Amino acid sequence: MTADLKTNFIIEKIKKSRLPQADFSNLVFGRMFSDHMLIADYIDGQWQTPKIIPYQALPYEPSAKVFHYGQAIFEGMKAYKDQNGNAFLFRPEDNFERMNNSAQRLGMPAIPKEYFVNGIKELIKLDKDWIPTGNGQSLYIRPVFIATENAVAASPSASYRFIVISSPAAKYYSGDVKVKIEDKYSRACDGGVGYAKAAGNYAAQFYPTEKAKAEGFQQIIWTDSAQHKYLEEAGTMNIFFRIGDKLLTAPTVPVSTRILPGVTRRSIIQLAKDNNIDVEVRPVEVAEVIEASKNGTLQEIFGAGTAATILPIAGLKYKDYYADLPKLKDGFANKFKNMLMDIQYNRVEDPYGWRVKID
Ligand code: COI
Repeated sequence: MTADLKTNFIIEKIKKSRLPQADFSNLVFGRMFSDHMLIADYIDGQWQTPKIIPYQALPYEPSAKVFHYGQAIFEGMKAYKDQNGNAFLFRPEDNFERMNNSAQRLGMPAIPKEYFVNGIKELIKLDKDWIPTGNGQSLYIRPVFIATENAVAASPSASYRFIVISSPAAKYYSGDVKVKIEDKYSRACDGGVGYAKAAGNYAAQFYPTEKAKAEGFQQIIWTDSAQHKYLEEAGTMNIFFRIGDKLLTAPTVPVSTRILPGVTRRSIIQLAKDNNIDVEVRPVEVAEVIEASKNGTLQEIFGAGTAATILPIAGLKYKDYYADLPKLKDGFANKFKNMLMDIQYNRVEDPYGWRVKID
């Protein structure tokens, strides 16, 4: 990090908050945005003074590299409020580290921790009243980092902008989520960018996911691109399988470069270990999960992600096979969801130091 890093944020407050017009009773994910945003530019090898300014449209020339080569990465985080109105982030340093791992893979400069962790704290302090307090509600935080140089040569950009916006959020998925195990299209390959939160990873999933939706499945479980033999992740979330009383999930970096190393996933693995739940992080075969479904030992499948939280899966399709999954009130998914929410919303002690107060 450069010694002359500019760490005094310029703060320009909104003249008239939009909060009085905000309706938190019917939140649709990612549609409403809080009053302020953070921006920090990287120009010719130097980070410029970061700013917190009113949420607004950004002017970019059509030649900006992000539009041509998708040199863009993002993160997903949340701010939570407790009963006394205190605000908290959850494991923000994990998102910071992952964002810079993504930046490195996409040939982008590292974002200073000061801008990411402290910048987000400053931003959320200003927009604290935008954190909704209803059951399961939070303020979704979206850091994004884009290539802004006006040049269409296919090479890394000379300038970048780091932006953080936030959005009051409730559920990401409404209704039952059934999944299709994909055996044709692929999300990632070895040595690729699957482990990075690259914007293009998400765009690449849209077409096959729309096809799955047309068949009645809201999400795809991606399989390895070489053989379509192993279950990987669901694109918007990591995925866990409970066979009998054993929890299985696929390995991420350094074992596999194809799967996003989720913060919720990591937290569940820790909670499972500390609660004497047998958890195996290893390649999970499609065949063993289908066999378990057929012989009645597949108890649960659940997704884990920041936006999706912990989401029990209602049904599973693979080729011509389909099965509804048991609806378990006291299953692992609900158990982990409650444990995590208790920490996130400051209802219990946090032995891990995951909860970070914003003050
Ligand atoms: C998140 O869970 O934060 C994500 O970034 C997934 C996104 C597709 C909403």
